[in-house]
Amino acid sequence: MRIRVALTPAEQLSAPIGVVIDVLRATTTIAQALASGYRRVICTTEVDEARAIAAQEGDCVLGGERNAVKIEGFHFGNSPTEYVGAPAAGTLIFSTTNGTPLLVSAAERCGTVLLGSLATLAAVLAEVRASGADDVVLLCAGVSGELSIDDVYVAGRIAAALGGAPEDSAVAAMRLAASFPTALDGLECSQSGRNLHRAALPQDIAWCARESHLAVVPRFARMIGTAAEVTL
Ligand code: MLT
Repeated sequence: MRIRVALTPAEQLSAPIGVVIDVLRATTTIAQALASGYRRVICTTEVDEARAIAAQEGDCVLGGERNAVKIEGFHFGNSPTEYVGAPAAGTLIFSTTNGTPLLVSAAERCGTVLLGSLATLAAVLAEVRASGADDVVLLCAGVSGELSIDDVYVAGRIAAALGGAPEDSAVAAMRLAASFPTALDGLECSQSGRNLHRAALPQDIAWCARESHLAVVPRFARMIGTAAEVTL
């Protein structure tokens, strides 16, 4: 299996399978929402787009952040713990700074798009292996277009577990991941982690560092206008 890593969102790699990674926190939070019973998560690049979709949908709530802070007028922010327990509606309409724009762009380029996180690590690995795909790209959301170590750490963990034929980008990610004694160390060392400390949300880093406790694999289902619908 050929494995490549887009270390930043500017590297628009494509392959039959793409795994979008925004471990702090978008792809972790989407996984938690779907595991808790939301039927779908509609991901938008723009905040106004999310509000417009919400105005047309019946049974929905709005979630997301800008600069790690809950968006004004939205029901929920981007902490995975806000989505633990019974869902508040059938549909979550969701917009984040880096994760949801990358998902929308990956949907245009890859045959199948999965969402990756540490919380779903074992399930995502099983899904990629079962696909039989011989070409996989791991797409890192980063922060404001730049590399963020948390996402590269997760890409490195996935690449190492898949084995196969890693190209240099995947080897770089694997070596970075191997340099940290624990997942929490890898996430704490990142710009995303520092942003969450600044927003007084350090507990989210520890939560997102927990491995394989959600047995779900969120995947891109279809475009709804310019928004990407994610389901299980
Ligand atoms: C993002 O999409 O940029 C992140 O989820 C940011 C955050 O965790 O607040």
